[in-house]
Amino acid sequence: MAVLKTLRLQLRFLLPLLVALVAAAYLSVPFLDQLTLRWFSRDLNSRGMLVANALSDSVAEALQADRSTRLKALFERTTQDERLFAIGLCSPDNRLLQSTAGYPPALSCAEAVTLSAQADPRLQLTGGTVNVGSHPVLGMLPGSPQLLGRLILLHDLSFIDRRSQDTRRYLIGLITALGVVIAFITMVVAQLSWRGWVKGTRALMRGEGILTPWLPAPELAPLATELRARLRDLEDEYRRAQGPDATWNAARLRSLLRTQLSGDQVIVVSNREPYIHERSDGGIIVKRPASGLVTAVEPVMRACSGTWIAHGSGSGDREVVDAFDRVGVPPAHPEYSLRRIWLTEEEEQGYYYGFANEGMWPLCHVAHVRPVFRESDWEAYRKVNQRFADAVVAEARGEDPVVLVQDYHFALLPAMVREKLPQATILTFWHIPWPNPESFGICPWRREILRGMLGSTILGFHTRYHCKNFIETVDRYLEARIEHEHSTISYKQKETLVESYPISIEWPGDAEVAAWAPVDACRRRVIERLGLPADVCLAVGVDRFDYTKGIIERMHAVERLLEKSPEWIGRFVFVQVAAPTRSALEEYRSFQQRVQRLADRINQRFGRPGYEPVRLLAQHHEHDALTELFRAADICIVTSLHDGMNLVCKEFIAVRDDLRGVLVLSRFAGAARELNEALIVNPYHVEETADALQRAATMPEAEQRERMASLRSTVREFNVYRWAGRMLADAGRWRLRSRIEARVRRYQAE
Ligand code: G6P
Repeated sequence: MAVLKTLRLQLRFLLPLLVALVAAAYLSVPFLDQLTLRWFSRDLNSRGMLVANALSDSVAEALQADRSTRLKALFERTTQDERLFAIGLCSPDNRLLQSTAGYPPALSCAEAVTLSAQADPRLQLTGGTVNVGSHPVLGMLPGSPQLLGRLILLHDLSFIDRRSQDTRRYLIGLITALGVVIAFITMVVAQLSWRGWVKGTRALMRGEGILTPWLPAPELAPLATELRARLRDLEDEYRRAQGPDATWNAARLRSLLRTQLSGDQVIVVSNREPYIHERSDGGIIVKRPASGLVTAVEPVMRACSGTWIAHGSGSGDREVVDAFDRVGVPPAHPEYSLRRIWLTEEEEQGYYYGFANEGMWPLCHVAHVRPVFRESDWEAYRKVNQRFADAVVAEARGEDPVVLVQDYHFALLPAMVREKLPQATILTFWHIPWPNPESFGICPWRREILRGMLGSTILGFHTRYHCKNFIETVDRYLEARIEHEHSTISYKQKETLVESYPISIEWPGDAEVAAWAPVDACRRRVIERLGLPADVCLAVGVDRFDYTKGIIERMHAVERLLEKSPEWIGRFVFVQVAAPTRSALEEYRSFQQRVQRLADRINQRFGRPGYEPVRLLAQHHEHDALTELFRAADICIVTSLHDGMNLVCKEFIAVRDDLRGVLVLSRFAGAARELNEALIVNPYHVEETADALQRAATMPEAEQRERMASLRSTVREFNVYRWAGRMLADAGRWRLRSRIEARVRRYQAE
């Protein structure tokens, strides 16, 4: 198409050029005729002079000797030249003395002399046109020369016509050929410069053209290196300078995608899918999973409208997908495409339950549960990573999509995608902590995992501390070049930026806020539903039923509070929502039983008819139910033993527009670095946590307001669009810089 367009454009230029050339050739013909005629006339004149001079002596002799027969023979011989038509000899008194056969009888000597004196001495005869020339014949008498007569030479002009026609044909041919050659050269040059221009413009738009003008100068090589360093410094400065100045929202994220990543395709890869279709008695129902990852990435995906590739784990998932295993989501108003990957039971067992959740999860959380590493699990993990990587390649519409890889389920995938799509921008986000090198070192496949992750363009963690741990781990186990100043790792000629991007939630919009029931109403409903005392001090915990969440530790703290401050007995209730998770694993099942036993024990110890201090709700709660519970609560307890970020605390803050409620937060959750106004605790320290509960339960309203207002402004500002936006902006800059660097390297290699 583009070639046709170019040709059309060129034809528009070439056709007029050709027409002009042909017209010029034809217009110049009369002028050329004149010119050639003048040349030939001049030529004939000098020829005539020559002939006359050559004949002059013989003619004078013959005249003086009165030998007319000799003259006749001489003249006949001379006119054998095809261009000499006839010769006549006139006496000084203009009598025709002698002439050849072709001499026109009607042409008198006087006429001939007069005609020859004209500028264009042409005479039209029946046999053609002749040029008339008159040349004196002088006899040399003693003393002075004497005019003996005049030679009249009639030159045939028809050959001039023949020759001019030949010349004309030749000239027109030459000009036409010249025109064709010029047109061809113009076309080639235009084609080349068009391509060059288009290429150059595209490169410039990608930011590559910046260096082009001076690249060819070898003496500027040091400058290129210097510029490269400066670019990197500027990029670092820019990143650091990015404060909470401008508000991040879906629109800003979308515009960033359009401007910095030129609207490139976004593909998310995660194990857990954002919407699960479950078969139930009443047909198919849609569930939202309990997953921090899904909470954060889903709004980003709605803003970017790409493709999300995930494991189709719901019992009704297969029934709603199309022939390509895709379904539009959110189900009510589809905004992006969910591509489901089906796993066999063995694959799920080995990759998900085995390697990911019995190996990597405890390995990274260091929560005193021993990781289990099995060869068969590792094989399944590798195979499933490859299957997802192949799906990414299949879903990619171009060679450089933006691929957002999520979490510890896909440590090998970045390098697998990079192999097939070397130009792709791969952003891997690790939603859980990264341990120190010693702890990570117990993994038998530590090197393979690190190599896989280093296929990423950018590797994101929640905190600087996790980044530092990762960089030190690479330093310990791989031969890689680390630039601490820029936080980059170069491994096998490929550079990865390791950066912290604290994840967050979507700040509730006006429509959502308007749909919330007032805090009093929420409180009444919760009290009623759970049968709680009317003046209850309500503390809530909302987690997946996971051993890393510190559920046992917080229950110990509640028990200690009731021990230390018995006035709370009958008035203090702790409601723990624990969404069952990974229950196929023995570790999880036994943990759930331990929690249940502990709740029972505390309730036995401090409970009384109509009052249970601990309420364990071990079931999945939908978003609206959680909003109601959070709005009803006085205290929210988050006591993770180790957590990447923890979004539950941010969700609690987001729904407290009444500025009430106190957050008790573990210092081992990434969120503790941002949410300074929470009551920060060490969950392993039961006494400290119990005291924090006491302080929370008795915190004056004004202090609650002050703390909550500040927490809310932090979460509103540092929302999930900022998280995604910062990562994508870094990716955009990184892409630009690598393109410039690639050009500099190419140039330096030349
Ligand atoms: C954590 C992980 C996520 C995971 C979520 C729920 O937040 O970082 O990757 O999706 O837990 O766990 P599950 O195993 O049910 O997906």
